[in-house]
Amino acid sequence: DWTTGNVIEEQVARIKAQIGDGKVICALSGGVDSAVAAALVQRAVGDQLTCVFVDHGLLRQGEAEQVEQDFVAATGVKLKVVDAQERFLTALAGVTDPEEKRKIIGREFIRVFEDAARAVVEEAQESDGEDVKFLVQGTLYPDVVESGGGTGTANIKSHHNVGGLPDDLQFELVEPLRTLFKDEVRAVGAQLGLPEEIVQRQPFPGPGLGIRIIGEVTKDRLDTLRQADAIVRAELTAAGLDREIWQCPVVLLADVRSVGVQGDGRTYGHPIVLRPVSSEDAMTADWTRLPYELLAKISTRITNEVAEVNRVTLDVTSKPPGTIEWE
Ligand code: XMP
Repeated sequence: DWTTGNVIEEQVARIKAQIGDGKVICALSGGVDSAVAAALVQRAVGDQLTCVFVDHGLLRQGEAEQVEQDFVAATGVKLKVVDAQERFLTALAGVTDPEEKRKIIGREFIRVFEDAARAVVEEAQESDGEDVKFLVQGTLYPDVVESGGGTGTANIKSHHNVGGLPDDLQFELVEPLRTLFKDEVRAVGAQLGLPEEIVQRQPFPGPGLGIRIIGEVTKDRLDTLRQADAIVRAELTAAGLDREIWQCPVVLLADVRSVGVQGDGRTYGHPIVLRPVSSEDAMTADWTRLPYELLAKISTRITNEVAEVNRVTLDVTSKPPGTIEWE
């Protein structure tokens, strides 16, 4: 019968049988699925696994560190970090259309991952003549059902919804989460000793903060949004509301300014939108009725602590008609 321990034992045995003494690669996104999948493979085959983390600069405060430090400390995984922040900023310069942003982020992600994967493959061949034959993906049971149940060829679907890898980088997929639902994945991750911040993470879109800045994505705007978002997350957690809320996008209206007054001075800053939603599956959602006192605290903190932001607004639209994200 189903216990977390049994699942881990069974998956570790399957992974060992599939991979043997081969080499394997995995892209970490900062999310729970890729982290748990990688941790299972690490448990099974140790340092035959190399993880790649593409830091595109669109993650929230502390999330890159959680991967680079906490995840590595918890698992002992071999990690290759690619700092691609400048590259993503350059590619996104001047772009305001949401779908265009998604396309660019997805495209750049796959290119950077390809380069890193090629480097890992070459290093492996130089060190002992071994090819890297396997790629880990955090495909869950609902993804399998949705896509008709077949085993895909190698692609980085889950993170950025982009197409496949080129012919010279074809891998056999290792998908240790294929029989699991999200809450089971979290249980497995917890049992494997992964950091709570990763295991309990709420849904976060692959394009990250890139689609939470309405307008062009710039370094300064990302820093502003990261500060506001960190305050919101800290206050929601302190209020014990993480489980109740499906997710709470924090959105920077970068192309809008409004007049404010602080101290003796007039300000002309940007609004932040809070978008707390309650949902079962993100297909439909209702706006979460947060306590007024909590909203007041978040508003005061953001306007006091985040330069450039002088107004905090609350989105009270359900889905439909609104989507959860603003872009
Ligand atoms: P919407 O905004 O469509 O979002 O109501 C539904 C869920 O999907 C997430 N989302 C994305 N996830 N890439 C992703 O990986 C994307 O481009 C993307 N857009 C939206 C959103 O955060 C919510 O959980």
